Amino acid sequence: MYGLVNQAVRQMVLCEHGQNAWEAIRRKAAVEDDDFVAMQQYPDEQTYDLVAAASEALGAPAEAVLREFGHYWVRYVADSGYGDLMKAAGRSLREFLTNLDHLHARVGLTFPALRPPEFTVIEDGQARIRLEYRSPREGLAPFVIGLVEGLAERFDERVVVSLIGPRSEGRDHDEFLIEFTEMKPA
Ligand code: HEM
Repeated sequence: MYGLVNQAVRQMVLCEHGQNAWEAIRRKAAVEDDDFVAMQQYPDEQTYDLVAAASEALGAPAEAVLREFGHYWVRYVADSGYGDLMKAAGRSLREFLTNLDHLHARVGLTFPALRPPEFTVIEDGQARIRLEYRSPREGLAPFVIGLVEGLAERFDERVVVSLIGPRSEGRDHDEFLIEFTEMKPA
């Protein structure tokens, strides 16, 4: 993945757990440089290794680290030069999720080797949507849960997100149910 992702992991650890935690995680994941280059591609394994090392060092399951990272990513990209792109993608969670593939297509103009995920929104009544998530990568469903929760926070909406159809059960995508307990009117 592009270094932008690893940079955000580093920044999250530094902000929320401090320099010593980051040093320990970096060493455990055998990452040599202290920082990453946003536009450079790194092996996906390095990102997975960082998450595994953070899980070990912080004594939290990898799923919890990924979910926390989802929350962080929404704030991180909005604050690191992609604020306008985030704003253009929508003013509510429902609208934003519908535009997410367009957002990544725009991101792909800056990051030409991007292998972005794909999202499909399925309307499921007034206060529910189902979200299909397709990716060339595995194991990132908890990240998506954190991202959706983080986006809901961004729009001042309240949601409960559940993985109702994991891709490990023979299907090519994960399916989430998003239930709104507070939402912006359409
Ligand atoms: C303008 C804001 C954003 C930027 C610049 C951005 C950029 C990126 C980049 C660089 C990657 C790594 C992919 C690669 O290197 O091949 C990525 C992956 C990903 N992005 Fe975004 N992204 C943005 C917003 C979002 C949002 C709001 C979501 C919310 C659902 C999201 C969901 C994901 C997921 C789930 C992945 C993991 C890759 C995978 O599933 O295979 N992104 N994004």
